[in-house]
Amino acid sequence: MTRRLPAAAFLLAALASPVRAEEERNACASCHQQIQPGIVSDWRLSRHARAQVGCEACHGVLHTSSDDVALAQLPTIDTCQRCHALQAAQFRTGKHARAWTAVKVLPTFHHLSQGKVDDPSGCAACHRIGLKSAEEAAALRKAGASHGQASCDACHTRHLFSALEARQPEACRSCHGSLQYDAWASSKHGARHRLVTSGQLPAEAAAPTCQVCHMQNGDHANRTPWGNLALRLPPPQDPAWAADQRVILVALGLLGATGGDGPRADGLQDSGLLHLDRIDFENERHKLTQACRQCHGIAFVREELDRRDGLIRKADALCASAVREVAALYDDGVLQKRGPGPFPDLVQAPLASPVEQRLATIFFDHRARLMATAFHMSPDAAGWMNTLERDLFAIQAMADELRAPTPPAHRAIPRRKAVPAPAPAPGR
Ligand code: HEC
Ligand code: HEC
Ligand code: HEC
Ligand code: HEC
Ligand code: HEC
Ligand code: HEC
Ligand code: HEC
Ligand code: HEC
Repeated sequence: MTRRLPAAAFLLAALASPVRAEEERNACASCHQQIQPGIVSDWRLSRHARAQVGCEACHGVLHTSSDDVALAQLPTIDTCQRCHALQAAQFRTGKHARAWTAVKVLPTFHHLSQGKVDDPSGCAACHRIGLKSAEEAAALRKAGASHGQASCDACHTRHLFSALEARQPEACRSCHGSLQYDAWASSKHGARHRLVTSGQLPAEAAAPTCQVCHMQNGDHANRTPWGNLALRLPPPQDPAWAADQRVILVALGLLGATGGDGPRADGLQDSGLLHLDRIDFENERHKLTQACRQCHGIAFVREELDRRDGLIRKADALCASAVREVAALYDDGVLQKRGPGPFPDLVQAPLASPVEQRLATIFFDHRARLMATAFHMSPDAAGWMNTLERDLFAIQAMADELRAPTPPAHRAIPRRKAVPAPAPAPGR
């Protein structure tokens, strides 16, 4: 008897916590079954339910009834990290983690096409995937936005938390739809994928999705060589291209007019807007090349990627010419200059005069579309390059108009001085 008591106590102690956890889980699930059956059934279908990861694992045990709802904890990446250390660590080093910071550095990035500058709630629809500091999280809660800080539920949505869902390009589409998804969908890669998923091609036929190229081996650190901005420091080795990239960097306020930091350089490190190291670029390039090599030969891949660099180079020449064109209007006293430095301020440009707005369009909108289509092997890239050329032409015409507002008949012969033509040869 005396020998059995400790054994029974041990058994009870061992059972006590799972039993209590099971009861709590059932209490949470059975009450919430009445309120949100959709949440409970998704959870029941999830790997979490099968692995005995209950509601309380993510929401805590402090809230147990309708009277104490405020005590329910809302998860952050830290919650998931307790059990998924690898994915959380990878995510923290990728660009998604910095999405919240980026909004503050370049508030007019999408040229107002995806939300208003003075209303970050519009930006939050996609950029909330980014991590927040404790102060930022508290400020958001104070402003009434206590939900939406989990980050990890962006691709495998709650409460299924399914890896299968996250592997589909649709998981990326809600945020990357109008640029990268549409571009990919119109490429041979996207076409193949559609034919495979509709059963018209064998299920094993090669058809790369976003994840095949950007999340190899399930790596959660999404990052590309060029980045969304396709600018880098040190700039590319080609001198003409480097000069063009510098002009753009100065106009963005990221670089000072005489080298060194520009007025917006502060957020640069935190936002990861640029690769600030040639090695980083080369490493990312190597990783991406490996992804292509699953299905293509190395010579083909190099050629394709180099050709795309050539397109950025050409686009940069057009954008830098446009910046110089508007700067000349300031120098000639035709247009009121804003902001510091010798060049127009690209970040303010979407809210400025018509010619400055057109300048913003060429960089923030049309160059981004060119990149998305070119990078994703969409034949639309050629059309976007034409659009950039037309933009520059329009800016030149507007500049002429501002300088000499004479009736059109008098300007049959353009008096335009040559703007440096974009160099054709690729290379980086
Ligand atoms: C007796 C019923 C009841 C029980 C038991 C219960 N809840 Fe709730 N819970 C509610 C109600 C009511 C709300 C708020 C109304 C709504 O969401 O529609 C709520 C809200 C929540 C929220 C949302 C909080 C927010 O800020 O959006 C979470 C998360 C939650 N419960 C988790 C749990 C977990 C985890 C348990 C078990 C530990 C649990 N609940 C047990 C009734 C219950
Ligand atoms: C208490 C530990 C725990 C916590 C906290 C937790 N998970 Fe899990 N998760 C698991 C376990 C266990 C599995 C199943 C692993 C297996 O079966 O191999 C799993 C599986 C997954 C899977 C794979 C599902 C599939 O379809 O294969 C995803 C995705 C996932 N969790 C995401 C999350 C996210 C996001 C969070 C935070 C909101 C989170 N988990 C929090 C333990 C946890
Ligand atoms: C529909 C989803 C969506 C909305 C809304 C949105 N963005 Fe974005 N944003 C993206 C995506 C996707 C990217 C990365 C790919 C790209 O360049 O399109 C991005 C990239 C950026 C970048 C560049 C980040 C980098 O590291 O290069 C900045 C800056 C930015 N957004 C600012 C904003 C601001 C400011 C707002 C609100 C006015 C906003 N975004 C609204 C989806 C969105
Ligand atoms: C693996 C972690 C995880 C588990 C397990 C989990 N949740 Fe959640 N839950 C989340 C995340 C992440 C959110 C989003 C939080 C946010 O928006 O800030 C959330 C949000 C909620 C919300 C508020 C948002 C809404 O749509 O109303 C409720 C209610 C909720 N969960 C109930 C439950 C219940 C009930 C269970 C168990 C059946 C459960 N959760 C299990 C991670 C989890
Ligand atoms: C950009 C989309 C995206 C985000 C954000 C994301 N995941 Fe994933 N996750 C995926 C994809 C895609 C897979 C499938 C990877 C594979 O199998 O190759 C996956 C798989 C997983 C798995 C299953 C791994 C396995 O080997 O079975 C877990 C666990 C997981 N993610 C956790 C997380 C956590 C934790 C976070 C937040 C730190 C997170 N994910 C954020 C896209 C994402
Ligand atoms: C066949 C491989 C491949 C597929 C599939 C693919 N990408 Fe890309 N992606 C690339 C390449 C190559 C680049 C340019 C990388 C560089 O050199 O910097 C890129 C760049 C990007 C960028 C940064 C540049 C930009 O346009 O803003 C984002 C964001 C991106 N891809 C998202 C996606 C999304 C979302 C999908 C799915 C809809 C997708 N990609 C599908 C290869 C791919
Ligand atoms: C909730 C919105 C959201 C979802 C879902 C999402 N992304 Fe993103 N993604 C963004 C935003 C916003 C950025 C820009 C962040 C930054 O650079 O500051 C971004 C950046 C990226 C980049 C980095 C480009 C660079 O600058 O190097 C890649 C690659 C990428 N996403 C791929 C994906 C893929 C693949 C998926 C799906 C598996 C996905 N994203 C799902 C919002 C999202
Ligand atoms: C999962 C396999 C797979 C991966 C990974 C992949 N591709 Fe493809 N790619 C294909 C298939 C299949 C086609 C259509 C058949 C063909 O043209 O070879 C294709 C077609 C192309 C085409 C059009 C060729 C033409 O002649 O019209 C280009 C360009 C291309 N891929 C570039 C790339 C680049 C660059 C990468 C890496 C960033 C890449 N692919 C990654 C499978 C893949």
